[in-house]
Amino acid sequence: MPPRTLSRRDFLKITGLTLGTGVAACGGLTALATYSPAVTLPASTFGDQTMSKKILVAYASKCGSTGEVATAIGKTLAQNGARVDVMPLNKVTDLPGYQVVFIGSAIRVAKWLPEAANFVSENRTILQRIPTAYFTVCMTLAEDTPANRTKAAGFMDPVRKVLAPAAEAYFAGQVDPARLSFFDNTMLKAKGTPVGDFRNWDKIRDWAQSTYAQTCA
Ligand SMILES: Cc1cc2nc3c(=O)[nH]c(=O)nc-3n(C[C@H](O)[C@H](O)[C@H](O)COP(=O)(O)O)c2cc1C
Repeated sequence: MPPRTLSRRDFLKITGLTLGTGVAACGGLTALATYSPAVTLPASTFGDQTMSKKILVAYASKCGSTGEVATAIGKTLAQNGARVDVMPLNKVTDLPGYQVVFIGSAIRVAKWLPEAANFVSENRTILQRIPTAYFTVCMTLAEDTPANRTKAAGFMDPVRKVLAPAAEAYFAGQVDPARLSFFDNTMLKAKGTPVGDFRNWDKIRDWAQSTYAQTCA
């Protein structure tokens, strides 16, 4: 039997199917590689609700470790007798109602998360009237050396230019592979970023305590 010639219609069908399958497979793989598990970001109020001194600790976080640092800072501040609201930056509604503000961000690719940097820019006029402290959570400080401290301080240069803070600190953070996408895990591995929880809770609480004395006294 002579070989059957492919009609133009069949050819287009087969090509379309092959291309469609390829695109779907690529799209599926991309979605899988960039999928990260959902994270619940903490929001709490600490201290006596009737206290006149109200402090805000607001933060930007992708995987939750900065939210836990913010919570530790909030609890320490409240032990001094203030009322402290801890929340993600996108939940802040009454900024002028606070007497002191702490703003923190995780670092991603050598920068504060965009929502934290944008929050400072957009609220600069209000923040200029309120003592404002910054804190940064990053893996550069997993090894606390003078060179790494200088590097971590550099992450805040852009935001410091918008508004100079009353105080600032840099803390080592956490890399939990279970909270990251395949893509992010691969990137951090390639950069040699260590895995684990490097947060130094005593250092975090000590800074909160000394910054309270500096800004609220
Ligand atoms: C994709 C990605 C990029 C990161 N880039 C940096 C970086 O450039 N410098 C750094 O010191 N830490 C970097 N880190 C580490 C995070 O700042 C650190 O894990 C932090 O604790 C994350 O905070 P979060 O859990 O609140 O999101 C990176 C982490 C991820 C997942």
